[in-house]
Amino acid sequence: MSLDLKSLVRTIPDYPKPGILFRDITTLIEHPDGFKESVERLAEAHRGMGFTHVAGIEARGFIFGAGVAIALGVGFVPVRKRGKLPGHTIGQNYALEYGVDTIEIHADVLSNVHKVLIVDDLIATGGTAIAAVSLIRRAGAVCDHAAFVIDLPDLGGADKLRAEKVNVASLMAFE
Ligand code: PRP
Ligand code: ADE
Repeated sequence: MSLDLKSLVRTIPDYPKPGILFRDITTLIEHPDGFKESVERLAEAHRGMGFTHVAGIEARGFIFGAGVAIALGVGFVPVRKRGKLPGHTIGQNYALEYGVDTIEIHADVLSNVHKVLIVDDLIATGGTAIAAVSLIRRAGAVCDHAAFVIDLPDLGGADKLRAEKVNVASLMAFE
């Protein structure tokens, strides 16, 4: 396990709008060893810690989160954008650059006997991840760890998560 994973992430300038440097993980996951090693490293850092579930955030968090759940031998909880889950849900609003959005989980999936690891591809402002932590904690479960492939530290999301008493792990950072 010694691949330079960061070199497999492609940067696309001005997507989805001018001034944004989009960190594109599709080139990482197209690489068979890159994808496998990303998932293995995320899982390895969280083995033997008593997690009962991985929660992956739609959509890119599903790609890595599903692999981490399998590697850890735990269940997978999809954290979905509003209106996509068929059962009774609980939701949490979060701020976007313009306006608000909502993420949801099924209301009956988690309780106070569960300990959940959040997985997503990237943390930027932290709005999405903090909403996921709130949602999982409202369901009664323990949620004090989150793991990302990419951290954008200049945007402050990881520090905001740590202020909510969440341990944050990432495989790489783009300053
Ligand atoms: C991206 C990314 C994270 C979130 C990070 O998802 O996958 O979930 O933004 O941004 P934040 O830290 O500022 O909240 P996006 O909402 O673009 O959805 P997608 O995975 O469906 O592309
Ligand atoms: N989500 C939020 N900011 C992003 C960025 N710069 N690249 C890829 N996904 C993102």
